[in-house]
Amino acid sequence: MQKLKLIKVGIIGCGTIGSQIAKACQDKLNDKFELVAICDIDEDKARNLKNLLDKKVSILRTEDLIKKVDLVVEAASAKASSEIIERCIKMRRDVFIMSIGGLLGKESLLRSVSKSRVYLPSGALCGLDGLKSASTGKISSVTLTTRKPPKGLAGAPYLMEKGLELSKIDKETVIFDGTAEGAVKGFPQNVNVAAILSLAGIGAERTRVRIVTSPDYTKNVHEVEISGDFGRIMTKTENVPSTANPKTSQMAIFSAIATLKEIADSVKIGT
Ligand SMILES: NC(=O)c1ccc[n+]([C@@H]2O[C@H](COP(=O)([O-])OP(=O)(O)OC[C@H]3O[C@@H](n4cnc5c(N)ncnc54)[C@H](O)[C@@H]3O)[C@@H](O)[C@H]2O)c1
Repeated sequence: MQKLKLIKVGIIGCGTIGSQIAKACQDKLNDKFELVAICDIDEDKARNLKNLLDKKVSILRTEDLIKKVDLVVEAASAKASSEIIERCIKMRRDVFIMSIGGLLGKESLLRSVSKSRVYLPSGALCGLDGLKSASTGKISSVTLTTRKPPKGLAGAPYLMEKGLELSKIDKETVIFDGTAEGAVKGFPQNVNVAAILSLAGIGAERTRVRIVTSPDYTKNVHEVEISGDFGRIMTKTENVPSTANPKTSQMAIFSAIATLKEIADSVKIGT
């Protein structure tokens, strides 16, 4: 029997998500993927990850990594994701983006894709399957309410801009209520879910986002409400934050690995 050609993978960003994807490529998914290269702006992060992996994985610069692989996995930052997608499109590489927030306002890039495939996993959010089906008809509203413990919102530019101190919050408080566009700008490390919801649905200007926090919260919870010709969808995802990075939910890591698996699978289940 002819041996299947493995898909060569390179990972940009060796943090919480990138490390788990790397391990999945070498363990669970090694019959479909071959992890050949990793990269991180913090060299220690790349070296630490390499030490946990097979010796043959190379540490490369972004440009060289893209040249060497079939599929580029971005798990770095919203600042980097649009540039990475642009380079992959130019170099005709397939690309998998986790930092979806960096793509808002850059939708023209997605429209320019022809020779590459771009994968945008649902991440920590459930309900995108229904939203994609519902988008075939008319959608009147999409609302996301995200609830996170204060430490999951730390460092967000919006908090500094408004002079909000998370340590002073002693009860359930709505921190932000506005468009997905505003949420992604104000909370770039937190609301990739708002970005993917916008891209799959009615866009970042029409998608409404509320961000709520409380010292009593222990999980990252996303509630989505969608209304349209089809009727109404309500989903609630109660995510356990990853231990390595409380801003990232465990579900986002699972979603990334499941999406990778689907890329290689012949059978696609769901919308
Ligand atoms: N789609 C989703 O639902 C979802 C969920 C959680 C996180 N995310 C996003 O995925 C990304 C990774 O999340 P994480 O929890 O692994 O973060 P992390 O902070 O644990 O790791 C990110 C790593 O990327 C590196 N990095 C940053 N900029 C880089 C660049 N330009 N080039 C190379 N390396 C770079 C950092 O040094 C770090 O090691 C973040 O942007 C995060 O917002 C998406």
